[in-house]
Amino acid sequence: MKYFTLFSVILLALKAYSSNTEELTENFLDLFENNNKAEPNPNGQIVHLTSSDFEEKTSDDMWFVMFHAPWCGHCKQLAPTWNSVAYHLKGQVNVGKVDCTANGKICQQMNVQGYPTLKVVQGKESTEYRGSRQIDEILNFAISYTSTALTAIENDDLEKFVSNNENNYVYYYDSSNPNLKDLKLYLNSARAHSNSGAKFLVTSDTQILETLGYENADTKQSKLVLLQDHNTKKIQFTKNLSSENDLNKWFAETKYPLFTEISSQNSEEIMDNHDLVVISFIDGNTVHSWTPKFRDIARKWRASKLADNHNVVFTWIDGSKWSKYISKVYHLEPTDLPRVILTKPDTEQFYDYSKNGKLIHEDDINEVLESVYDGSIEPKYIDKAVTRALKKLNKKLNAFGDMISNHPIISAAVIIASFVGFILFSIYIIPSDYESYNKIDSKTQ
Ligand SMILES: *[C@@H]1O[C@H](CO)[C@@H](O)[C@H](O)[C@H]1NC(C)=O
Repeated sequence: MKYFTLFSVILLALKAYSSNTEELTENFLDLFENNNKAEPNPNGQIVHLTSSDFEEKTSDDMWFVMFHAPWCGHCKQLAPTWNSVAYHLKGQVNVGKVDCTANGKICQQMNVQGYPTLKVVQGKESTEYRGSRQIDEILNFAISYTSTALTAIENDDLEKFVSNNENNYVYYYDSSNPNLKDLKLYLNSARAHSNSGAKFLVTSDTQILETLGYENADTKQSKLVLLQDHNTKKIQFTKNLSSENDLNKWFAETKYPLFTEISSQNSEEIMDNHDLVVISFIDGNTVHSWTPKFRDIARKWRASKLADNHNVVFTWIDGSKWSKYISKVYHLEPTDLPRVILTKPDTEQFYDYSKNGKLIHEDDINEVLESVYDGSIEPKYIDKAVTRALKKLNKKLNAFGDMISNHPIISAAVIIASFVGFILFSIYIIPSDYESYNKIDSKTQ
């Protein structure tokens, strides 16, 4: 095996490293190695955290925390599940609970908007869990989040990763003078974006620089490159490696596979980080037969000149799983599928017809994209006031974990039509998970 855990590579690097070695070693150990740390969640039980120990406990170790209030019925409903989560994560992840009525300050600091809220917390980082309340989904999230580590490689190993993973991030650093703070940022961001299936690699092998597209590069400078889709596309990170925002934004923009399923966990992020989202409504049972075709369409787009300036993502929504939602919001019935629309989340525009006046056919997507960007087809718009109302509603929906899209656009016209329509919308669209969430300001302590 040619690649090691990052830890061993760093030890090797450190052996060669002369000045300030001691301090550096300590930092590196803290960063990547948990051997000298207490085993997380040794009893498989929830730990109740309070103002007096929350900061200390979460400053180094990772905790998965439920923020709740005693009066909140939906918290009580989730309580048995949360016990099971703690049980199943024994030895893997600390599981905690914070009573926000007794420890309001913590919950304020953690930006808790409603009860229950689930977050992974470590030091100053926190990531909110937005998925469903199913135990399987909660556990999957926790395990993928916490088990994400950086894999250290050499130039020769790269091919293996490139052929096995659609998105490979490769971080090069100078082993004679590694920037710990930046490496830690990279690790934290990798964790926060681990749900995408992307691989996060790290290397100090100078030979790799040429493979990554750098000629006569300065080997002292850290570099980050994304190798996509069997190395058919290389994207160099050109922003600031010391900026958490820059890193997170870039990962959010680039990490999705060629053809991505929109879920409650990723919908908001996808809408917030792309200029344009191609949404295909497909019956989930038939998606296997569509995937190769849509991946090719996405590849064609990526190879085009326009792709250099426009961040487009190709997605699908399971039309059978979300049939009620799609029917109410997009007015699409199962017999209408498959259907393709393009939406620009930022500008509240959408396109459902191509230039020839017909509904968008999957074979025409790249042509429609061209028309969108040369202005030869007109977008449809949503009324601003309605958008605001929808967004507000959607914000809640997102927190419940059953939201599909930030902009349920096609429904807008119908909703403008009548207040009754809006009420109906509220009734039908609020998913069943709504019943498992209390908004803070609806009932304060
Ligand atoms: C990069 O980001 C860090 C952290 O935000 C900041 O301190 C630094 O000044 C930035 N560097 C550049 C060149 O913008």
